[in-house]
Amino acid sequence: DGGGGVLDGMAMAELLPSLPLETRCPPFPLRLYGGYWLPEWVLPGLEAVHARFDPRPSDVLLASFPKSGTTWLKALAFAVANRADHPPSGDAHPLRRSGPHDCVRFFESSFALAGEGGGDIFAASPSPRLLATHMPYSLLPERITASGSGCRIVYVCRDPKDAFISAWLFTTKNSTAHDRSVQKSASIEEVFDLFCAGRCVAGPQWQHVLEYWSESQRRPEKVLFLRYEEMLREPARSVRRLAEFLGCPFAEEEEAAGAVDAIVELCSIGQLRRVPANKTGATELGINKESFFRKGAAGDWSNHISLEMAARLDAVVEDALRGSGFSF
Ligand code: A3P
Repeated sequence: DGGGGVLDGMAMAELLPSLPLETRCPPFPLRLYGGYWLPEWVLPGLEAVHARFDPRPSDVLLASFPKSGTTWLKALAFAVANRADHPPSGDAHPLRRSGPHDCVRFFESSFALAGEGGGDIFAASPSPRLLATHMPYSLLPERITASGSGCRIVYVCRDPKDAFISAWLFTTKNSTAHDRSVQKSASIEEVFDLFCAGRCVAGPQWQHVLEYWSESQRRPEKVLFLRYEEMLREPARSVRRLAEFLGCPFAEEEEAAGAVDAIVELCSIGQLRRVPANKTGATELGINKESFFRKGAAGDWSNHISLEMAARLDAVVEDALRGSGFSF
């Protein structure tokens, strides 16, 4: 059973208890919905996105599987889109005063935290809006994904082994933020086995990636597919691609003035780590802000899982992607 689907007309509160439950994956209890394991507490937020969020043609949605470079993408897209108002080298830049997650919010969790009756909580945000999501493509409202909506999506994809390790270390560091109904003592091997079975926040990871990749092939002008590893290798190229996709390519004068490099620097993990707002305190969910900035490298999985485990996940992923045209 793949769980329900968003459009089957039943209120989420009624539907939730009947959805398959997984309580072994830190940090939240997950429910299988539309083929994905999603945090139970977020699902009412997803319902609210469908019911209350009013997309605008100028909206840009930053989408990702968790721990795949979301924070970085938020910073880069924010810096690129707002560079006319906020020059990247300026001392007063919002990314030197607040965190990327404050500059660009996740819509499903914002709706979930706002609770019922909040209306469209993003209605007052000026256009063009930048929003973020961890929801899979197939669970986004059609008002966003329909070709006529105008909305653009930027997806960041990461090697599943690195996404797994990043999530494992992140949840371990933030264990006080864990939902009480989730088992706390799980070993990395156990949680890895669950990940390989697609059981993790927003999993199966490869299915999440494949959906967005397929859509980027179908509608390249509306869905930009970025890879974390490529962004690390060529950050300036990624910034230029982002700007072009967002409809604000760098002018010659900007290029000459070093605007691209200034954005790369402003959004680098080293710089973001130094921002006081990213160093101390916790998010609404009790996540230590500094834990969003760890190593920021490709291939760190090899320091944490065995080659045998890696080969096992690679085989699962290869199997699932066979014939799709996509590979990591
Ligand atoms: P690691 O745990 O492998 O270091 P997300 O933002 O989706 O939660 O992803 C987190 C991962 O992105 C972490 O990976 C984190 O260190 C890395 N990251 C955060 N900010 C970054 C930046 N500015 N540049 C590159 N990587 C960054």
